[in-house]
Amino acid sequence: MKVVASAPGKLMFMGEHAVVYGYPCIVTAVDKRLYVKAEIIDQGEDQIHTPQVKESRFVLETIAFFKKKFNINKSVRIMTQGDFSQNVGLGSSSAVTVATFKALSELFHKRFNNAEIFRLSHKVNLKIQGIGSGFDIAAATYGGITFFVTGGKTIQPLEINPLPLVVGYSGIKADTPFFVRKVAENFRNKKKEMKMIFKQINKLVLGAKKSLLQNNHQLLGELMTDNHRLLQKLGVSIPRLDRMVDSAVKAEAFGAKLSGAGGGDCMIALVSKEKRQAVEKAIEKVGGEIINVNNNAEGVRIEN
Ligand code: MEV
Repeated sequence: MKVVASAPGKLMFMGEHAVVYGYPCIVTAVDKRLYVKAEIIDQGEDQIHTPQVKESRFVLETIAFFKKKFNINKSVRIMTQGDFSQNVGLGSSSAVTVATFKALSELFHKRFNNAEIFRLSHKVNLKIQGIGSGFDIAAATYGGITFFVTGGKTIQPLEINPLPLVVGYSGIKADTPFFVRKVAENFRNKKKEMKMIFKQINKLVLGAKKSLLQNNHQLLGELMTDNHRLLQKLGVSIPRLDRMVDSAVKAEAFGAKLSGAGGGDCMIALVSKEKRQAVEKAIEKVGGEIINVNNNAEGVRIEN
């Protein structure tokens, strides 16, 4: 028997970094998915073929975790396929972990609900990375657009339509752990100042949640740009991302910000239908590459 499961990538909408320190963020799943094919093999060691993901450790650790939990001694073959490259920061590690859990649970007839998939996948990711809020795991598991608090203390789906976002890739692969550590170091040295920034980000995220539910894109855009300014203060933006954000705002996006840990990967801009093309052009003009992704996508699922 073969099972194929898939999980979506993600984009951090607002609240990155602060969410590592107990504050909320808003995350959306995107319609670029990672597919995991799992089957039981008769002999030998587990076999894995995972060209789409940065580190096969996420798959190996998930298999080990799953087998231990259910006392399974059969071997498996896992193969991945992806709609997106691991380079753009759409969350291939979290998607592959979640999809592997889902595929294995189906293969061995162990029914998991999403809460369990989230909890176990977050555990595996923490074991490998040491740090992380789990927002990406929540997006891969539940899909949609979610108001999320550190470690999954709150995972609240927001019942809204997909957002009119432009996504621009900076061309630079971000080193997420580096920037998370950098912020942690600053936090140790300048606790008061950093806490103040996190509190300001928290306010913006709460405002953004309200604006999302009221469909107030004008205000939402302003909150996004304010969030970007605070991320600059945290020291995680880079000139390329700043140029992309500034040119999007100049081209009359409602607002724009970097998305994720900073240092590279993507930025996002919230746009009206009329301004979309101008904003895309403005981002390209300063070296960004437009990535065509839709947001508010479905969470983990079985494909066959
Ligand atoms: C990275 O994409 C987002 C961070 O907030 C880290 C995390 O939440 O795990 C910087």
